[in-house]
Amino acid sequence: MFHRTARVLEHVKLAERTLRVRLQCPELASAIRPGQFVMLRLPNTTDPLLGRPFALYDTILEDGKPVAIDVVYLVVGKMTGRLAEVRAGELLQVWGPLGKPFLDVGTPERVALVAGGIGQTPFLAYARELLGTRGFGGVAPRARTKKVSLYYGMRSANLAAGIDDFRAAGIDVHLASDDGSIGTKGFVTQLLESHGKTGPLVGCGPEPMLHALAKLAAKWDVPCQVSLETPMACGVGICFSCVAKVKTDDGDDYKRVCIDGPCFDAAKLVWE
Ligand SMILES: Cc1cc2nc3c(=O)[nH]c(=O)nc-3n(C[C@H](O)[C@H](O)[C@H](O)COP(=O)(O)OP(=O)(O)OC[C@H]3O[C@@H](n4cnc5c(N)ncnc54)[C@H](O)[C@@H]3O)c2cc1C
Ligand code: FES
Repeated sequence: MFHRTARVLEHVKLAERTLRVRLQCPELASAIRPGQFVMLRLPNTTDPLLGRPFALYDTILEDGKPVAIDVVYLVVGKMTGRLAEVRAGELLQVWGPLGKPFLDVGTPERVALVAGGIGQTPFLAYARELLGTRGFGGVAPRARTKKVSLYYGMRSANLAAGIDDFRAAGIDVHLASDDGSIGTKGFVTQLLESHGKTGPLVGCGPEPMLHALAKLAAKWDVPCQVSLETPMACGVGICFSCVAKVKTDDGDDYKRVCIDGPCFDAAKLVWE
């Protein structure tokens, strides 16, 4: 794990209350894989004291080598509110890679990525990895599937963030919104279901959406993994603030999302 004070190279607005921050951190950018996350903390302040977890959105290459990472975030509270005021040239504390990469999906014809709210953030890098257009963490690029579809649902059009990035990466994008202001009106899982059975499903977003996705995967009998965004304090397995209930051969158990996840087989989670 690398712990660095990293310079902000770019900080741009993508949508309402949604920004992309680019951090110069070559070692971390070279090591991180899709599905893993970093902790970010504002330097020179104890308010907030703890770092906050954010998924890898993408790595930035210079002369073919990773030199920076992008994180895309929604402003929801204290840290993200203050983060939004940080300007290019200023410094942030960053540490990672944390957690495990997405679980192996094998080599199916098609993979469907299903995002709700700000849950699209881990999927740009992951789609590049699946399509074999980019290698991460020192792993050479290797195509694992021919087609990646992104099903992305949000409350309304003003929150749509990164759609151009996803399309430019060769991803087949389908949108849904609660108010019908973009894409199909309704839940993203309903849109997915209306398109019929797919290959493996990978979800990230609010828990009710992930639960609906897990039920759909069970009905279709397809593999499904979900990336959980449980609030975290330490991010490295010490505090147990991030646990998720899972089924094991010996009954239900608790796993730490920060070190055992954040990606889990949806069929093994206990949905409450
Ligand atoms: C592995 C992982 C990856 C993540 N990736 C991203 C990402 O790429 N982009 C992004 O915008 N966010 C991501 N998150 C969520 C992000 O960490 C929180 O939004 C952030 O910690 C909020 O910090 P804050 O200080 O601004 O809000 P706080 O002041 O701490 O909280 C504000 C409000 O949000 C609630 N809240 C805080 N954290 C969460 C959470 N994880 N889930 C639901 N409600 C929460 C609080 O209960 C409170 O009501 C990720 C979380 C995890 C665990
Ligand atoms: S956040 Fe501390 S154990 Fe997971």
